[in-house]
Amino acid sequence: MTARLPTNTSSAEPQSICNPITSSAIFIVATLGPGSERATKVRAWCADIAALTRSVGKRVPAGNLSCVCGFGANAWDTLFGGPRPAALHGFREFGSEGRLAVATPGDVLLHIRADQMDLCFELATQLICALGDAISVVDEVQGFRYFDMRSIIGFVDGTENPVGRKAIDFTIVGDEDPAFSGGSYVLVQKYLHNMTAWNALSVEAQERVIGRTKLSDIELDASVKPSSSHSALTTITKDGQEVKILRDNMPFGRPGAGEFGTYFIGYARSPEPLEQMLENMFVGKPPGNYDRLLDFSTAVTGNLFFAPSADLLEELAERNP
Ligand code: HEM
Repeated sequence: MTARLPTNTSSAEPQSICNPITSSAIFIVATLGPGSERATKVRAWCADIAALTRSVGKRVPAGNLSCVCGFGANAWDTLFGGPRPAALHGFREFGSEGRLAVATPGDVLLHIRADQMDLCFELATQLICALGDAISVVDEVQGFRYFDMRSIIGFVDGTENPVGRKAIDFTIVGDEDPAFSGGSYVLVQKYLHNMTAWNALSVEAQERVIGRTKLSDIELDASVKPSSSHSALTTITKDGQEVKILRDNMPFGRPGAGEFGTYFIGYARSPEPLEQMLENMFVGKPPGNYDRLLDFSTAVTGNLFFAPSADLLEELAERNP
């Protein structure tokens, strides 16, 4: 049974979080440069993001261009002062060497999506140029939608995402934190896969790792689905009811360089379900019963951000911490 969260009655307009799936995305993580002048520049930029997105997107209305901007805990304090979104904190690492959800530097996140990479590229260029030396980009990934909505490891990805009203109720902060209602917590991780080892498994063995059939994307029957499967460990409950997150992972890679990756992005109303899933995957449930997908996948980045409502994002430009 899916959790009945308090319906989100927030009147603040969220950023474009529950958008339809697109065929392209750019993920940018940047750190803030030192000094108050740079902070002032980033603050002022917050009021320009929506207008720049309109300017680029208007030219191709069917391109579904959107942008979500998020800030890490330290950046929030530096840029906007207190109070901070109630549950925002630095990325918590899970696991240990060999199987670790690493924390890496990151103050600002841009999640740019469209049905054409040129739109994503143009908006990323405009947004980054406007910031100049106020930030340093520490990671930039161009993701593409693989055929059949498959992840790079060949399984359909995103099937169990919540939709419609449930997507909003599971991702958008409501009355539990009134000053930040309309916002959302965002966790990102860049994964690299050992495709040679993964492809050496039989399809049946891969299906037991994911917990679903590969061709038809149907959940394995409970009698054969291992408790260590990815889908079992990322299905979590609170007070007996399922708690979901909203994912929009993208494959990326450079075949010539042997690079095959998944950019994981998950939105939730609190970091708690995201962190519970990471703990189940990396530490295991019970400990030791970990996600075998991690025998073939290495997390090379990890960050937690808060994406304020679209209204608050504009207002933040006026803050004087
Ligand atoms: C190595 C990178 C990852 C890959 C390739 C991957 C791939 C997949 C695939 C193929 C599915 C099954 C279809 C679906 O419902 O979407 C799935 C399900 C899911 N994944 Fe991942 N995933 C990755 C990382 C993560 C992480 C880091 C989290 C959470 C922190 C996560 C959370 C989930 C959830 C919640 C589901 C749905 C479970 C269910 O309700 O059955 N995934 N993932």
